[in-house]
Order: sequence, then C-alpha cells, then structure tokens
Amino acid sequence: MNFLCGRTILLGVTGGIAACKVPFLVREIVERNGRVIPVLTENAKKFVTPEVLEVFSGERIRELFERPSSPVHISLAGECDLVLVAPATFNFIGKIHAGIADDLLSCLIAATRSPVLFAPAMNKNMWRNPVLQRNIKELESLGYKFIPPGEGPLACGEEGEGRMREVPELLLFVERELCPEKRLSGKKVLITGGGTEEEVDPVRVITNRSSGRMALSLVKAFFFAGAEVKLIMGRHEVDIPSIFPVKNVRTVEEMKEAVLSEFEWCDILVMAAAVSDFIPERKKEKIKKGKEITLKLKPAPDILSLLQKKKKFIVGFSLESRNILKEGKRKLEEKKLDLVFSNPVKVLGGEETEGYIITGKKERKVSGTKEDVAWEIVLEIVSMTT
Ligand SMILES: Cc1cc2nc3c(=O)[nH]c(=O)nc-3n(C[C@H](O)[C@H](O)[C@H](O)COP(=O)(O)O)c2cc1C
Repeated sequence: MNFLCGRTILLGVTGGIAACKVPFLVREIVERNGRVIPVLTENAKKFVTPEVLEVFSGERIRELFERPSSPVHISLAGECDLVLVAPATFNFIGKIHAGIADDLLSCLIAATRSPVLFAPAMNKNMWRNPVLQRNIKELESLGYKFIPPGEGPLACGEEGEGRMREVPELLLFVERELCPEKRLSGKKVLITGGGTEEEVDPVRVITNRSSGRMALSLVKAFFFAGAEVKLIMGRHEVDIPSIFPVKNVRTVEEMKEAVLSEFEWCDILVMAAAVSDFIPERKKEKIKKGKEITLKLKPAPDILSLLQKKKKFIVGFSLESRNILKEGKRKLEEKKLDLVFSNPVKVLGGEETEGYIITGKKERKVSGTKEDVAWEIVLEIVSMTT
C-alpha cells in the first residue's frame, strides 16, 4: 500500500513559518519513490531556500519567466498527478479564491486539471477570520480540497488552531487523494485494535503482545478508500496520527462498553483488537512474592455476541496456533460474521502478517506487510459492500 510510488506531486510552498517542515515532506515522498517538483512563491524563499528543496527533491526550482522563454506553468500543470500547497498562507488561499494568477504557483493552479490540496498554516485568529473561512468554503464547493489544520502551540507564541499538520499526516491526505479506490466514500468504519489488559492485583496485569499495528494499517487503508474512521484502542505500541479519532480503553469491560456505545454509528465494524478471553479474579492488595500461587480466571464477555448485526458489515479476526483456516471458518459461521481474517499467533506484534481472508463464499491466502494485507482486506470489503 504505497500510493506515492511512481506519482508526481507538485509541491507549492508559500510564505509561512511552516515552510521549514517542507524539506522533510519532500524527503519522505522521494523515499517512497514519488517525484516531487517544488514551486516556491517569492515570500516562501524567506522561510526555506530553493537550494535545500533542490537537494531534497533532485529537481531544478523553476520560475514563471525563464530563459529561453516557455510556458513553464502549462507544462508543470500537465505533468503532475496532484498539486499540494503546504503551507498555504492566508494570502495565497485568498489569491486563488480571487482568481489571481501572478506567479508560477498560482498560474499552474489556474491551468491544472489535477486535484489541488491545500494545507493551511497560520495564526489562530487568521485561521478563524471569516474572510478566509468563506474563501475555503467557496473553494471547496469548486472542488479544491483542504487539510484541516491541527491545534497546539503556534509559531507566533500563541496556542490554538492553525498549525499545519505534521508530515506523516499530510501524506495520509495526499495518499487518500491519489488512491484509485474511493468506493467507501460516505461509509463509517469502527475499528478496534491493540490488546486489553486485566488486573491481577493493584500492580500486575495480564495482557498480550498485540502492537496495534494491524489496526493502524486498517485505519489508513479505510481512510484511503474514502471512509470515515474511528478507533477504539487497547494498549498499543504505535503512534496513531491525530487526524483519527481514538477512544483509549484498558480492559475487556471498557472495550465492550466502547464498542456498544459506538456500534450504532458505524456501517462496518472491524474487531482487530486482541481482547482477553479470560479475566483474573483481582486481589485487592499486592500479592506477596515467595509462595506458589494459583490464579483463578473466569471467561471474559464475548463482545461480538452482544451486537445486533443486522444491516452492519462485521469483520472478525481470528488468531490461532493451528488449523488457521478451519478455525477461521468456524468463527465466521458461529459468530455470523461477514468476513474473518484468520492468522497464526507468530504474527502478533510483528511488521508482517499472513493468513486467510475468509468470507461465506471463498477464502484467499494473503501475506506481506500489515499495510499490504490491510489493503487486501479493504478491497475484499469493497467488493462485498458496493
Ligand atoms: C515571520 C513571518 C511569519 C509568517 N507566517 C505566516 C503563516 O504562518 N501563515 C500565513 O498565512 N502568513 C504568514 N505570514 C505572512 C505572509 O508571509 C504574507 O501574507 C505573505 O504575503 C505571503 O506570501 P505568499 O502567500 O505569496 O507566499 C508570515 C509573515 C512573517 C513575516
């Protein structure tokens, strides 16, 4: 799953402080085998030098009027798969809204037929300014796309909304735009991930080695295919990009409550979390060391059995020591699921996975990175739901 590979991104840079993040954005796209053509406004050159972007992109920085003279803006407009303006200043957004084309970047945006994505970055009052908000709304109605800025400390010393998204998050929006599969647009997907933990006493827990990597890969894959996603995460080792809403839970009981309260919202539920099958009898005080002890475990609630599955598409995960295919098929039937991904215990916590995508009609063996397998699962769901 790499929608940057072999694609050409025209990266417009305008005059805001966040331009200092742009070299890292360029490097990341190039490392993932994408081509980046940077185009700077005159004011952008005060925040990041053309030389740095030339080195990182391997492309010559172009100007509107070059010698020998040629319509550079028309050739660049036709060459790119996507235009990303990052950072996009208050001024530049206003300029495009007004239909002004007085430099290379604004000229090629006027000329391109490729999608144009803006990543605004500015002070919180500039961001809330009604003129800017009107401009964005009207540009959106014309088909231009905007990456909503995040909240946090701003370069001006204030705190609030207006920060340009970090590089990994910008890339998620870029990949979503470049993804050829968009048939999950408008679908709401709830994904559980990570591992639950159950207390044995006030300091000790029983948990499992789930990393949350599969859930993160799934959330990205659904996002690329156009879906709206929400996550419910147990203990996990991965960083979840802040653009995805996450509810963090610890225990099976908390996981159950979270799934039950969000279930109504979703069209598709993917239960990728490694939820404990047992709950230990919790001791009120710390168990003293030295003596051999016996832990009493009772079965944990089966969350899937508590859901009214009608009109929802439900995906279960099955983690098995042996008979992976047979056990996966049994789970599909017993729990009345639409799809099961059945995988061996050895994949827990790792970067790669393998297993069977099982539906009522067929099963398919898949292997690769968790991102690749997540994409295969999403494609299977697309074919079954659209
Ligand atoms: C130090 C400094 C930082 C600035 N940061 C921003 C910013 O983050 N966002 C913004 O919209 N404008 C910012 N501006 C204002 C723009 O640079 C100004 O509007 C300029 O005309 C933008 O030109 P351009 O849109 O053609 O690149 C900043 C100005 C200065 C002096």
